[in-house]
Amino acid sequence: MATNLHELLGSLRVWAPETTRLPCFDPSSAPAEPLELFTEWFAQAVAAGQHEPHTMSLATADADGTPDVRIVMLHGADADGWAFASHAGSRKGGQLAARPYAALGFYWSAQGRQIRLRGPVAPASAAQARADLRARSTGALAAALTGHQSEVLGSTEELASASAAAWERARREPDAPVPSWTLYRLRPVEVEFFQGDAERRHVRLVYRRTDGGWARDLLWP
Ligand SMILES: Cc1cc2nc3c(=O)[nH]c(=O)nc-3n(C[C@H](O)[C@H](O)[C@H](O)COP(=O)(O)O)c2cc1C
Repeated sequence: MATNLHELLGSLRVWAPETTRLPCFDPSSAPAEPLELFTEWFAQAVAAGQHEPHTMSLATADADGTPDVRIVMLHGADADGWAFASHAGSRKGGQLAARPYAALGFYWSAQGRQIRLRGPVAPASAAQARADLRARSTGALAAALTGHQSEVLGSTEELASASAAAWERARREPDAPVPSWTLYRLRPVEVEFFQGDAERRHVRLVYRRTDGGWARDLLWP
C-alpha cells in the first residue's frame, strides 16, 4: 500500500462511475423553498446509504474575522432555521456570541451532493435547549455534563474521571440540567444545492432570501 501522501492523492477520484451513482437534478423543477429541497435531498441521502448525513461542518469566525470550522450534528431544520447544539462557553460559543453569523456545509458523497447555508445564528430559549437535550441519548447528556469544552485538558485521567462522573449522573438523573448547553439556530439568507456531474457540468442552484420569499439562480460550477 502506498503511504506517500501525494501518491495516494493521485490515486483517488471523486464521482467515479464504479463507486458513485450520481442522480440527475433538474433545477427547473426545484421547489420554491430551500427547506423543502433540503428535506427531499436528506431523505434521498438516507435512502442512498449515505453514512452519517446528519453531520455537517459549522464555520464561524473570531471577533477579528479569523475563520474556524468543525463538525457538529444537525438537530433539526424548520421555518425557524437549521439547529445544532453546543456549549456556550466553547470556542464556537464565544465566536457566535461575538459574531452571530455562521455557515453550514453538508457533503453527501454517495450522490455527489453538497449543500451550503449562510446566515445569522441565534440561541433558542433555555427551555428549548433543555427539551432538545432531554430527547437525546444518555451519551449525549453525559457528554454535555462533562463540560469544559474547548478548555485546555490537564491529562487524560482528568477527562476519564469527569466523564465517568457525568455518565453516572446522566444515568441517575436523565433530566439533569446543563446550563451552558445551548441550542442554536442558523436562519439562512442563502442556501446552495450542488449536484456533482461526472462530466463536470455540476448543477449549482442558489436560493437567496428576499422580502417575501426566495429568489433562485443557477451558478457556474
Ligand atoms: C461526527 C461529529 C459530531 C459532532 N457533534 C458535535 C455537536 O453536535 N456539538 C458539539 O458541540 N460538538 C460536536 N462535535 C465536536 C466538535 O467537532 C468540536 O470538536 C467541539 O464542538 C469543539 O469545537 P470548538 O472548540 O470549535 O468549540 C462533533 C464531532 C464530530 C466528529
